[in-house]
Amino acid sequence: MKTYNIAILPGDGTGPEVVREGMKVLQAAAARSGFKLAAETYDFGGDRYLATGEVLPENAADELRRFDAIYLGAIGHPEVRPGILEKGILLRLRFDLDQYINLRPVVLYPGVETPLKDKGPEDIDYVVVRENTGGLYTGIGGISMQGTPHEIAVQSMVYNRHQVERCIRYAFDYVRRRHTAASPWRGLSDADREAGKIGQLTLCGKTNVLTYAFDLWERVFYEVAAEYPEVKTDYCHVDATCMWMVKNPEWFDVIVTCNMFGDIITDLGAITQGGMGIAAGGNINPEGVGMFEPIGGSAPKYTGKGVINPLAAICCGAMMLDELGETEAAMRVIESVKRITASKLKSMSAGRMGYSTSQVGDMVAESL
Ligand code: IPM
Ligand code: MN
Repeated sequence: MKTYNIAILPGDGTGPEVVREGMKVLQAAAARSGFKLAAETYDFGGDRYLATGEVLPENAADELRRFDAIYLGAIGHPEVRPGILEKGILLRLRFDLDQYINLRPVVLYPGVETPLKDKGPEDIDYVVVRENTGGLYTGIGGISMQGTPHEIAVQSMVYNRHQVERCIRYAFDYVRRRHTAASPWRGLSDADREAGKIGQLTLCGKTNVLTYAFDLWERVFYEVAAEYPEVKTDYCHVDATCMWMVKNPEWFDVIVTCNMFGDIITDLGAITQGGMGIAAGGNINPEGVGMFEPIGGSAPKYTGKGVINPLAAICCGAMMLDELGETEAAMRVIESVKRITASKLKSMSAGRMGYSTSQVGDMVAESL
């Protein structure tokens, strides 16, 4: 029987609770589809840092490279100064493992409430491809004359052509994959397909102000587009993208953008799909090991109460299965999540679901 080796990083706060439910569902899906998940758990996170003073062991990336995928709960501890764990664990692993894509589906599941007026699941169904290792996150810059009125702080948006091109290429390939092969996300509706629609890729940038960085992005985007004549292309400034994500989310299919813009617009996307309880993401290295995480954070005030929503963790587990090539199992998990959101959960918010964290995990696993 095919066995996948999974590194589990439960992390901080409610991370362990949601990862437990995620693994419950993934193990059940694996049993049904005839493969095995062998898991090994690592204690990286705030508690370990407070106890040992070490954020991440020196060999962590090498150790994690041995696995087929990494399943992450949450990073962020109330007693640790913001930035230390985020940069030292999450960003460090994204960089060291060269997970240059952050894939974030924005999908409204049936029965889930959206703050967008008159919009439903048929309108909110797109995917953001966020560049994940470059740009403003590179950490190039500095501060000089600190503490004086003339203090200078510089943080540069750094991109080379290689980084931009591999991200844009991934996004075009992803459009193709989303619309031609089976996918846990719906992609085009049958009506769209009958109307002769094809996939669309929107570049989200800021060519009117960031005239160097996004000049590069725009040139590469249209160069690569020539190799994908069947994919419709579009361009949108990031500020306008935010507006359309609220007013006309149905216009989007796949959006590709830089690291910082992707970070910002995917929180907006998350709230339109019901909030952090349901939003999932994958840090992907198409040639290496990926790391899958609910994008909601560690929610320390709910820790140990059994009230946090595990669906985001379950959905990113489905993304992990899809990346491993177990698409049928991934689709089964997502279909099961949809049945639960449509028929059971009162709300996606912690404490208001009408069920406990583990009951939600049980329901999804049983509905597989
Ligand atoms: C995210 C988070 C991280 C990011 C933080 C925690 C470093 O906001 O995954 O979106 O900015 O990428
Ligand atoms: Mn973010």
